[in-house]
Amino acid sequence: MSQQPAVLFVCLGNICRSPLAEAAFRAAAERIGLDVAIDSAGTGDWHVGEPPDRRAQAVAGRYGIDIGHCRARQVTREDFSRFSHVVALDGAVLASLLRLRPAGAPAEVKLLLDYVDGRAGEGVADPYYGGEDGFEITWADVSSGAAALARRIAGA
Ligand code: 4NP
Repeated sequence: MSQQPAVLFVCLGNICRSPLAEAAFRAAAERIGLDVAIDSAGTGDWHVGEPPDRRAQAVAGRYGIDIGHCRARQVTREDFSRFSHVVALDGAVLASLLRLRPAGAPAEVKLLLDYVDGRAGEGVADPYYGGEDGFEITWADVSSGAAALARRIAGA
C-alpha cells in the first residue's frame, strides 16, 4: 500500500492480550525492518487509563520487553479509518468490532490467528481469570500471530 500500514490490536480489557500482541508485533516488525504504526485497545471501558495487568507485564519482562508504559483505552469508530488493520484477539471481540465498524471503513478486520497457517478462526484464550501459566500460552499465541502478520504486511 502507498500509506504506512497501521495495526491496532483489540481485546476486551486492553490490559492482558492486546498489550502483549502489540509488544510481540513491535518486536516482529523490528526484526524484519517493517515500518508500521502500532497500538492496542479494548472493546470494554473497565480498565481505561490503567497499565497492563501485572501478570502480562511479567511475561513480557521474561521475554525482555517492558510494557509498563501502556495505558488502556477503548476502541473507537475512528480507529477503523486510522488503522489499516484492526486485529481481534478472539471471536467475541471480532463480533463487537464488526458491529462498531462504520459502513465503508477501509480497515481489514480479522482475528490475529487468522494470519497463522492452520489456526484460522481460533481465538487467543483470555488469561485474565486464570493463573500465571495462562500468560505464557498467551505470549506464545500472540508471538506466532504477530510474526505471521508482520510477514504478511511486508509482502513476504
Ligand atoms: P484482556 O483480558 O481482554 O486480554 O485484557 C481481560 C481483562 C479484563 C477483563 C476481561 C478480560 N475484565 O472483565 O475486566
